[in-house]
Amino acid sequence: MAENTRNMTVVVTGASGRTGSRVAQAAQAAGLTVRAASRAHGFDWEDRSTWADVLRGADAAYLVHPSDIGAPNAARAVGLLSHEAVGLGVRRLVLLSSRGQEGARAAEEALRGSGADWTVVQSAWFAQNFSEGPLVAELRQSGQLVFPGGEVPEPFIDVRDIADVVVAALTDGDRYVGRAVAVSGPRLLTFGEAVAEIAGAAGRELTYRAVSARRYGETLTGFGVPAEEVEPLVEAFEQLLDGRNAHLSDGVRQVLGREPRDFADFAREAAAAGTWKP
Ligand SMILES: NC(=O)c1ccc[n+]([C@@H]2O[C@H](COP(=O)([O-])OP(=O)(O)OC[C@H]3O[C@@H](n4cnc5c(N)ncnc54)[C@H](OP(=O)(O)O)[C@@H]3O)[C@@H](O)[C@H]2O)c1
Repeated sequence: MAENTRNMTVVVTGASGRTGSRVAQAAQAAGLTVRAASRAHGFDWEDRSTWADVLRGADAAYLVHPSDIGAPNAARAVGLLSHEAVGLGVRRLVLLSSRGQEGARAAEEALRGSGADWTVVQSAWFAQNFSEGPLVAELRQSGQLVFPGGEVPEPFIDVRDIADVVVAALTDGDRYVGRAVAVSGPRLLTFGEAVAEIAGAAGRELTYRAVSARRYGETLTGFGVPAEEVEPLVEAFEQLLDGRNAHLSDGVRQVLGREPRDFADFAREAAAAGTWKP
């Protein structure tokens, strides 16, 4: 850990979410002071009047835009928040972005334009998409995952590795300032193979059924998700899962000097915690 990161206070946005909760844990374990930021803590990305109180006096921030970094409003929000942070002296900013998502580049650009000492972590799909969040209930209850993942392989990453990379970037002086780091898991798996590994770990029959992104969007609309949210998601799924991301990225090894956690370990641990019990 670099000398000047001792006593560092880091604002962790999305602190109750999949990555933010792990970033908060890893930062605490590294001796940083964590200031959790989400709506439950009075911080709202959609309400600029809530930003300064959370940022003031901190040294660094982990920025995670809710829902989708490629959403039309994300670049503006990331740009405004980053400017405000830099203006308040919070210069060290690490943004969670998405690997191979064209729509995410605007938010990354907005961060760079803020004058911050920035790092972007471009992540593959999270392994924890199968254990936390909107896909889990369906898998647990019906035993089937219906998703527009086709037969395209993806190197799912354990979000704990993202957290370790974020904290290493924060605590390693200027080494990762001005850099984008692409991270993935160690192995390519199709969605079908991932669900099969989960089924093996959970000891029950679980299946995967591929649908088109368009059909999936219609299902979301049927559940009442507003059209302005559905359309960018459909575009993102079409793009992310068209084969362009069917390769590994070695950011975890570059930054941490070790291999990323394997999907099998994730599946075994989550199964042991009862995640997919009917
Ligand atoms: N899923 C993937 O595979 C993947 C891959 C690469 C990149 N990403 C990116 O990861 C991001 C999502 O990260 P995540 O999965 O860690 O988050 P998450 O689990 O979806 O949790 C969202 C977090 O944001 C907070 N939040 C929601 N709305 C908010 C608001 N208006 N103001 C302030 N906080 C708000 C939530 O807490 P409260 O409800 O308490 O506010 C929660 O802590 C997206 O930008 C996505 O594009 C995802």
